[in-house]
Amino acid sequence: MRKQIAAANWKMNLTLQQADALVNELLATPHNLGENQQAVFGVPFPYLISVKNKLDGKKNVFVAAQNCYDKKSGAYTGEVSAEMLQSIGVDYVILGHSERREYFNESNAMLAAKVNICFEYGLKPIFCCGEPLAIREAGTENSFVETQLKESLFHLTAEQLTGFVIAYEPIWAIGTGKTASNEQAQQMHAHIRGVFAKQYGDTVADSISILYGGSVKANNAKDIFGQPDVDGGLVGGASLVATDFATIINSLK
Ligand code: PGA
Repeated sequence: MRKQIAAANWKMNLTLQQADALVNELLATPHNLGENQQAVFGVPFPYLISVKNKLDGKKNVFVAAQNCYDKKSGAYTGEVSAEMLQSIGVDYVILGHSERREYFNESNAMLAAKVNICFEYGLKPIFCCGEPLAIREAGTENSFVETQLKESLFHLTAEQLTGFVIAYEPIWAIGTGKTASNEQAQQMHAHIRGVFAKQYGDTVADSISILYGGSVKANNAKDIFGQPDVDGGLVGGASLVATDFATIINSLK
């Protein structure tokens, strides 16, 4: 059975002291992770080492960077490489979040290169896709998301895509308090799985964890995660509140 994942995306929030307090509070709040379930903490670069140390020894708990650069090393002032992340024991890297696509002009082609470099250094991408409101209103969201996936991921082998992690995040639902309905989430997740099934076959498609992101909260996580093709969530705002994120972890199926 594919992995069920509750992934926190702290974005550019919290001081080190606040981050420490949040992790301490979360560890003190009852939450259970079954064999097939994972909690992932997508934290700002400066806190990766300290959060990793705090979570050391906890079963099925991992840290994620929120980005990495697509070049190996060199004169790229201010950037962070996949090799650096590997060297500090980072497990996952969130790639292609809509905020990075929008504010930092990350293209599907650049994301293909980032996916490659993550594989090269043994990092697992959490690959984000999702449509803006205008595309949803025009009714062309399926082909929009399909193009994102094809242009960034279809060069990968079936082996690389086995157990891969995708996050579907409709941009109109991020940070807006507006969640996709359970039906809208399920419909798109099934579509995404179908896109991979067509290209790579059912076995690969069925192994891919597809997380939903966009205003996942403690009070709606159970319903959304209950959809057959929703394998957990990528959670922004609610991951900054320990009790809420613990509830979200406990909502995994
Ligand atoms: P949100 O963010 O939960 O605050 O809507 C989700 C995300 O952008 O990953």
